[in-house]
Amino acid sequence: MLLVEQTLEKTFKIAQKLIQAETEVPVLPYQSPEDLRQILDLDIQSETLSPDNFFEKLEQLILATPRTASHSFFNQLFGGRNLPALSGEILAAVLNSSMYTFKVAGAQVLVEQAVIAKMLDKVGYMEGDGTFAPGGSMANMMAMIVARNEKDLSIRNQGLRGQALVAYTSEEGHYSTTKNAGMLGIGRENVRMIPADAFGKIIPQELENQIVKDLEAGLIPFFINASAGTTVLGVFDDFEAIAQIAQKHHIWFHIDGALGGSVILSQKYRHLLQGCQKSDSFTWNAHKMMGVPLTASIVLFKQPNILRKHFSEKAEYLFQSEEDYNPGEQSMQCGRRNDALKVWAAWKYYGDEGYEARINRVFELSQYAANYIQKSPELELLQQPESINICFAVKGKSAAEICDRLDKEGLIKVGYGSFKKQKFIRLVCVNPDMDEADLDNLFRQIKKVAELETVA
Ligand SMILES: Cc1ncc(COP(=O)(O)O)c(C=O)c1O
Repeated sequence: MLLVEQTLEKTFKIAQKLIQAETEVPVLPYQSPEDLRQILDLDIQSETLSPDNFFEKLEQLILATPRTASHSFFNQLFGGRNLPALSGEILAAVLNSSMYTFKVAGAQVLVEQAVIAKMLDKVGYMEGDGTFAPGGSMANMMAMIVARNEKDLSIRNQGLRGQALVAYTSEEGHYSTTKNAGMLGIGRENVRMIPADAFGKIIPQELENQIVKDLEAGLIPFFINASAGTTVLGVFDDFEAIAQIAQKHHIWFHIDGALGGSVILSQKYRHLLQGCQKSDSFTWNAHKMMGVPLTASIVLFKQPNILRKHFSEKAEYLFQSEEDYNPGEQSMQCGRRNDALKVWAAWKYYGDEGYEARINRVFELSQYAANYIQKSPELELLQQPESINICFAVKGKSAAEICDRLDKEGLIKVGYGSFKKQKFIRLVCVNPDMDEADLDNLFRQIKKVAELETVA
C-alpha cells in the first residue's frame, strides 16, 4: 500500500532524476507514438501494482516525456522552471482546493483576489474584475461572452435570435478568436481577419473601413481583438488607435495579452502596452512570460462586478455564505483548480523588481539572438524582434526541414512559422534562466543540420 511519506519521497526522487536528466540529455532522441506505446506500459491493468512497480513505471514515463525546462527548448511560448511557482503548484495539488467557495478554499480565495487585484492595477483598470480561466483561449472566450452579452442583454437568457454579430481580429491574431466565435453562436465566418502591416501589426484604418462596411450592411460589430504579443512574431498592436475606433463605434475592445501581457511588469518595455488601460478586457497568461507552470490564465475586465452579471448561477447546495468570497459565481467552471497559488508564490518571492529583471532578461536574450543572426551571413533575420519571438531563415534552406531534423536527432526543440507567405524558424526566448551560451549552441546545431558547419 502507498504511504504518504514514501509517496512524496519517491515522487521527489523522480522529479530530481528528471531535472538531472534534463541537463544530460536536454532533448530526447525522437521516438514515434508507436515506439513509445511499445516501450511504456500504458494500458491500465485490472490488479493493483506494488508501490515499487508503480514508481518504476511512473519514472519510466516521466523520463520519456519531452523536456520543456531544458536549455535546448525554444519551441513554445512557455518553457523553463520557475522555482517558487513550482513550490506553489505542488502545494496546490497537495491542498486540492476547489476555487468556488470560501468555505472550501478559504485563504486561497484571498490569494486569488490578491493576484487579480495586482494585475488589475498593473493594467490600469481602476476598479475592475477578473478571474482565472483554463488557458488563454478560454480567457479570450470569457471576454467574448461578456462582449456578446453586453451588446444585447437579452442574449444570456434568450440566446441568439438572428442578431448578426461581427468580431474583428488581425490576420496575425491567435486562432482562438475564430474558434471561440464558432463555439459561441457567432459563427467563424463572422470574424473579420483584418490585414496586418509589414511588421505584423493590425492596420487600424483597415479595421475601421471594415467596421463601417459592416455597419452599412446592417450588421452588428461587437468585439475587437487586439494582440499584446502576436503568437508568431510577438508584436504589439497600436492600442491607442484601436481604442479610439472601438469607442467611436461602441464596440468592445479586448486585448489578448496571453503572450505579452507580462511585459507590463517591465518599466523598460511597458511602453509596448501603451493605451491598454483603454480596453474593456485583457487576457494575461502567467504561464508564458511569467514562467509559472501551465496553466495560469487570467482575464481582467475594466468594469467591476461584470463577471457575476454574466456567469453567476444559483446553486443552493454550493453557494451558501460569504457571497463576496465565492469566486465560483464569477467563473466559467464549477469545480476549479487553484492556479492562483503558483502565480502568487512566484510574485511574492520575486516581487515586482525580481519579475521586472526576469522580463528584461528575456528581452536581452532575444536581442542577443537577433544580433547573432544579423552577424551571420548564412542567416537572415525577418525583422527586429519587438519582444521574445525571433524569426529568421537559414538562407536557401527549408525552415520546416531544419526544425524537423533538430527534433528527430534529439538536438534542439524549435518550431517554424510563417508571415505573408514567408516561412521561417521561430525561436522563442522565454526562459530567463538560459544564457548566451545556450543560444550559441542553438545556432551551432542549426548550422550543423543545415550542413553549414561541422560540429565536433
Ligand atoms: C496571443 C495568444 N493568445 C492566446 C493563446 C492561447 O493561450 P492558451 O494556449 O493558454 O490557450 C496563445 C497561445 O499561444 C497566444 O499566443
